[in-house]
Amino acid sequence: MIEVKNISKDFVSPKKYPGLKGAVKGLFSNEKVVKTAVDDISFSIRKGEIVGYIGSNGAGKSTTIKMMTGILTPTKGTCRVAGINPNQNRKENAKNIGVVFGQRTQLWWDLPLGESFTILKEIYDVPAEDFSARMDFLNDVLELQDFIDRPVRTLSLGQRMRADLGAALLHNPKVLYLDEPTIGLDLVVKDNIRRAIKQINEKYQTTVILTTHDIGDIEELCSRIIIIDEGKLIYDGSLANLKDTYGNKRKISMEIRQPWKLKELHLEETFGVGEDGCSTEFIEETNSFCVTFDKHRIQVPQVLSAVMEVTEVKDVQIQETELAQIVKEIYNHGTAEGR
Ligand SMILES: Nc1ncnc2c1ncn2[C@@H]1O[C@H](COP(=O)(O)OP(=O)(O)O)[C@@H](O)[C@H]1O
Ligand SMILES: [Mg+2]
Repeated sequence: MIEVKNISKDFVSPKKYPGLKGAVKGLFSNEKVVKTAVDDISFSIRKGEIVGYIGSNGAGKSTTIKMMTGILTPTKGTCRVAGINPNQNRKENAKNIGVVFGQRTQLWWDLPLGESFTILKEIYDVPAEDFSARMDFLNDVLELQDFIDRPVRTLSLGQRMRADLGAALLHNPKVLYLDEPTIGLDLVVKDNIRRAIKQINEKYQTTVILTTHDIGDIEELCSRIIIIDEGKLIYDGSLANLKDTYGNKRKISMEIRQPWKLKELHLEETFGVGEDGCSTEFIEETNSFCVTFDKHRIQVPQVLSAVMEVTEVKDVQIQETELAQIVKEIYNHGTAEGR
């Protein structure tokens, strides 16, 4: 259904200089900075999959979604959605997709909700009999009838979210893009939204791409997650596998005095380098020796004492690996919102 091949997106903006003087300097300078928001990402998604598209703030999630919906042109690479190049055939593509951005509504603020749906029916050319069957179904799963006559501006956030989801689904799109659909919602509404997404996916085989910080969304909906960090794809697989493989990883960086002595460390025997993704690295500029390991197999003091036997250690930092950090972030957001 979706085929993304080596897409990148660069944003070019004028270089900024600090302070007021800098602002003036900036006005007269032609210097540009290039920000690579999405960096050579490839994946394909089958019909009917629900995929979580995960990453920290600024990772490039929304930019990828905008390229898949045709709002942005990729700097490099190609993207096809239901066989169509979304950017070159935006009209054609619009019939196939539904989009919800959690932070803003696409409904008419002052109109009663029901009228928004009637307008969308015209825009998308939904035949009358399909329209009423569709409204019945959406009423059923999203419980819209309670507020269908009220102007959108009077709806609560949760009601508005259900209304937006309904609006995105009215024309029965093949692909549904949801960017932070449950942000700020209470548990009851979240649950309702998740159930609706699940039912729509089961009934119509709708393909769903979902960005979220909510671990509950991921656990309940996504059979697969794709993680991006600084524009690069760093994981594509199941949540369970991610937790097993990366959730327990730690990285310890030691600034050492006698790097040449590292060869006295028998890495394989001491740490089991290569097992469970355990690896070591030496960074010359900072004289840092780093060991990445599974915290259930090896403990920090073991690593430290083994290294201290061969060289003096000036400084120690214990970090989590990028993925572990991201997983933790996802979980923290989940907890912060009451899970
Ligand atoms: N129109 C733009 N112009 C310049 N930089 C942008 C633009 N849109 C996004 N960016 C930058 O690209 C990066 C990725 O942004 P985004 O895709 O919105 O991240 P996410 O949705 O994962 O939080 C960020 O560093 C952001 O500042
Ligand atoms: Mg975003």
